[in-house]
Amino acid sequence: MSRFRSIIFISGNGSNLQNIIDNIKSDYLKMDIVLVISDNYEAKGLKKAKENGIETLVINTSDKYIDELLHLMNNYKVDLIILSGFMKILPKVFVEKYYGKIINIHPSLLPKFKGLNTHKKALASKERYHGASVHFVTSELDGGPVIVQGKTEIQENDNEDALKSRVHQIEYNIFPLAIKWFVENHIKQIDNKCFFDNEVLECPIEHLSD
Ligand code: GAR
Repeated sequence: MSRFRSIIFISGNGSNLQNIIDNIKSDYLKMDIVLVISDNYEAKGLKKAKENGIETLVINTSDKYIDELLHLMNNYKVDLIILSGFMKILPKVFVEKYYGKIINIHPSLLPKFKGLNTHKKALASKERYHGASVHFVTSELDGGPVIVQGKTEIQENDNEDALKSRVHQIEYNIFPLAIKWFVENHIKQIDNKCFFDNEVLECPIEHLSD
C-alpha cells in the first residue's frame, strides 16, 4: 500500500509542524509530508521544513492565487491537509474540493473564542479553563466539527504568555493524536459531523493532558 500523503499549511513559527515532523520520525505517524505551504515568506516554519528535506511553497494570498494553487495541488494526490498555525481563511471552493480532508488546530476550547487573540479573550472573560481544539474545516471560520480538545485551568496570576505556552504543550499532544486517528481511518467528517469508528461524536473527545 502506498504511504499516506499530507500537505501542511503554516504562517509562522511552525512549532506544531516541527512536532508533526518529529512524530513522523519516531514512526508514531505513518505518513509523509509532501509539501509545506506558507502565506508568509518569513515564516520560520519554512526553514524547519527545508531542514527536513520537505518541499515548500509560498503563496501570495493578496493575489488571485486559488486557481493556481488548486491546479498545483492536483499533482500531489493528497490524503490530508493540515492547517498548522495557518492564519488565512481558505476560500469556499478550496474547502469544498477537499471536504473531509482538512483539519485545523485552534488555540481555544471551541466553540469559545473563534478567530484571533484567544488567550487574551479567555483571560478577559475570566474563564475557568482554556485550551486547544483540533477540528475538521468547513467554510465557517473555526466552525467545523471538533475532534479532540485538551484543556488547562486558568490560574489567578496567569498571563497571555504563560497561557499560550501551556496551550502549545496541549497542541503538541492533541494534534498528532487527531492526525493519527485520521491516518488510521478512525475519524471521518460526514454531513458536518465528526464520526469516530462510524459512531457520531456528540461532543469532542477530551484529552486529559493537564
Ligand atoms: C498555534 O497555537 C495554533 O493553534 C494557532 O497558531 C499557533 C501556531 O503556532 N492557530 C490559529 O490561531 C489558527 N486560527 P506554531 O506556528 O508554533 O505551530
